[in-house]
Amino acid sequence: MRIILAENFEEMSKKAAAIVRSQIILKPDCVLGLATGDTPTGMYQELIKMYENLEVDFSEVTIFNLDEYCSLNRKNAQSYYYYMHHNFFKYINVKKENTYIPNGTAPDIDEECRNYEGQIKNKGGIDLQVLGIGANGHIGFNEPDINFEAETHLVKLDKMTIEANSRFFSSKDEVPTTAISMGIKTIMQSKMLVLLANGETKANAIYKTVKGKICPEVPASIIQLHPNATMIIEKNAAKLLLGQ
Ligand code: F6R
Repeated sequence: MRIILAENFEEMSKKAAAIVRSQIILKPDCVLGLATGDTPTGMYQELIKMYENLEVDFSEVTIFNLDEYCSLNRKNAQSYYYYMHHNFFKYINVKKENTYIPNGTAPDIDEECRNYEGQIKNKGGIDLQVLGIGANGHIGFNEPDINFEAETHLVKLDKMTIEANSRFFSSKDEVPTTAISMGIKTIMQSKMLVLLANGETKANAIYKTVKGKICPEVPASIIQLHPNATMIIEKNAAKLLLGQ
């Protein structure tokens, strides 16, 4: 895996956006896998600026999101559907029919997971998957002790994730306890991975991901086996890696 260090959030975001832009220039009809959360917000802002400056064109791009909470309506401001539309899609020229986010309120969640996996395969798989990382080492919502063989599936959120994500809700009780997530197998089948990490709360997870043994307790550690993975790590998140 390639490690790129960034001085700060802005530099991390710019570098990530530059990689996404290069992917779209190389293959205008590429398939992107995208993440939500705080970490990629700067990257989305950079990509919006690039779009406004005519440096990138999303008209042929397809986007699959990593995950979605179960039980939240798409209009709910905490749903990832809402997040993607309000942070990114509404500012760029991606076609609505080319954006895919799992439906967390589908009547049959297992069927929704199978369909989602099928839609990714029908589009030829993901060319570039952008990832954040949880303080517990999760990627997507693949929580510790994950089965590395899983495809898109229903997950039970870890206590640590519920705690961390409660910052977006008015109380911890409102955080959904389950979600749909691409599985580790789905993520590992992407042709390229770019993982972003920002802030000291991620330092331990980053250290274990890069230097630790590959194990289901640290889901992101599997990335060591990916043939084309890049991690863009802001300096506070890289503290333990740098021995600080
Ligand atoms: C979000 C996702 C999660 C987040 C992770 C970090 O789609 O898949 O794995 O990337 O929880 O979240 P932030 O960026 O908010 O620290």
